[in-house]
Amino acid sequence: MPLYRQLYYRFQEAIATENLKPGDRVPSVRSLANELNIAKGTIEQAYEMLVSEGYFTTHGAAGTIVSKQVSLIPKISKQTIIKSHEKNNFFSQGREIEISPFQIGIPAFDLFPNKTWNRLLKNNLHKLETTIMAKTDPNGYEPLRQEIANYLGISRGISCTAEQVFITTGYSATLQLICHTLLKHGDLGWYEDPGYPFARKLLEHSGMRLLPVHVESDGLDISLGKKIGLNARFAVVTPTHQSPSGVTLSLAKRLELLEWATQQNSWIIEDDYDSEFKYHGRPLPALKSLDINDRVLYAGTFSKVIFPGLRLAYLVVPKSQVSQFQYSASYCRVLGSTLYEATTADFMNQGYFLRHLQKMRSSYALRYDYVKKALIELEDDLQIKPQIGGIQILAHLKHNMNDIKIAMKAKSHGLSIEPLSNWYIKNSSSKPGLILGFNNFSTIKETENAVARLALSIRS
Ligand SMILES: Cc1ncc(COP(=O)(O)O)c(C=O)c1O
Repeated sequence: MPLYRQLYYRFQEAIATENLKPGDRVPSVRSLANELNIAKGTIEQAYEMLVSEGYFTTHGAAGTIVSKQVSLIPKISKQTIIKSHEKNNFFSQGREIEISPFQIGIPAFDLFPNKTWNRLLKNNLHKLETTIMAKTDPNGYEPLRQEIANYLGISRGISCTAEQVFITTGYSATLQLICHTLLKHGDLGWYEDPGYPFARKLLEHSGMRLLPVHVESDGLDISLGKKIGLNARFAVVTPTHQSPSGVTLSLAKRLELLEWATQQNSWIIEDDYDSEFKYHGRPLPALKSLDINDRVLYAGTFSKVIFPGLRLAYLVVPKSQVSQFQYSASYCRVLGSTLYEATTADFMNQGYFLRHLQKMRSSYALRYDYVKKALIELEDDLQIKPQIGGIQILAHLKHNMNDIKIAMKAKSHGLSIEPLSNWYIKNSSSKPGLILGFNNFSTIKETENAVARLALSIRS
């Protein structure tokens, strides 16, 4: 359970057991943050919930008190509260959940503008407009779809309307929507090898037959794809930064892939999961920006650019497919909470999103340098190819060591490392390597410390 919720329940319990009575003053955010040694933003989040639900009232400089009307709130069962506390692992340790060094797929929370986000969320909670409270359009909250269409036009060179954008609760939900709308059980698809295992599992469970297509230094081996599956119904690609190798699909291959899809009437699923992070040169336009024949389904996510717990992603579909997707979205129900969609729309519309991206970009570039420098210590064991962006790097193991064993050893040193071999479909082509997230190191010292522990894991 997140820390702010645990705190929220603590206060609810204190009120239910009458340890806190109507009119009692509660500690200030600052003093409670000091007392519990947790972030002020966490306390604020809990207090905001308690205020919005009527447990607390705020009185400016006079502080926050337990509402005089608290007795009107239906009694919370003490048993329920105690049960929820039993699950509380983190409070007793007096700290927030820690991100392990090298953990992948997690944006740097230290850079996130908590206060701004909370304010926008609170505004939406207070307004509670019927557009938020009612069930919305199955495509997702219209103002957010409009913001996404604007953003993609400017940042990714994708020309689309809000009508073509479908909001989902994440990439898996996006894939489910595609499977329901355009694919059928047993359809053949190209899948990058190595490639993102979670999406692979989802597609396989949805009945798709995936053909592993080798990834070269300029991206997917299109000739191999055509050789082993010319008539495949779809291809799943990560053209900007191939996941996990980080290579970019060359322009020649992009055109060849589009040509194949046009000739075969097949679909390309472009997973543009972290294209926002490019540290040198101009940003690369999306493959979708070259899609004149409408063969590309473009999948984006807010997991890396806001936070993964938000569960918010989107799909851009060709104009010709909008009504089909609208139909399947009406029964697939891949949408989450409108409250968060509205908050995200405000975050984008009021300029905070782009500012946050810029801040992440410059900090991540610095953090990438830290890890590159620190990893020089391991150059006898690891081979690292320079990256143009992304938030993780791939280090090949030079001496054919067992990456799974190293990852297990690293775990005992408090590190979270992904072994590359788990990302292959075809075991025979599997190469050992380590996938290392670097964007959560905030100092060179911290990075060196983690690399020293990694060295121990490899050398033992
Ligand atoms: C390759 C790849 N695609 C897509 C995603 C996005 O997944 P989601 O939107 O479900 O968080 C991720 C997240 O880690 C990823 O690594």
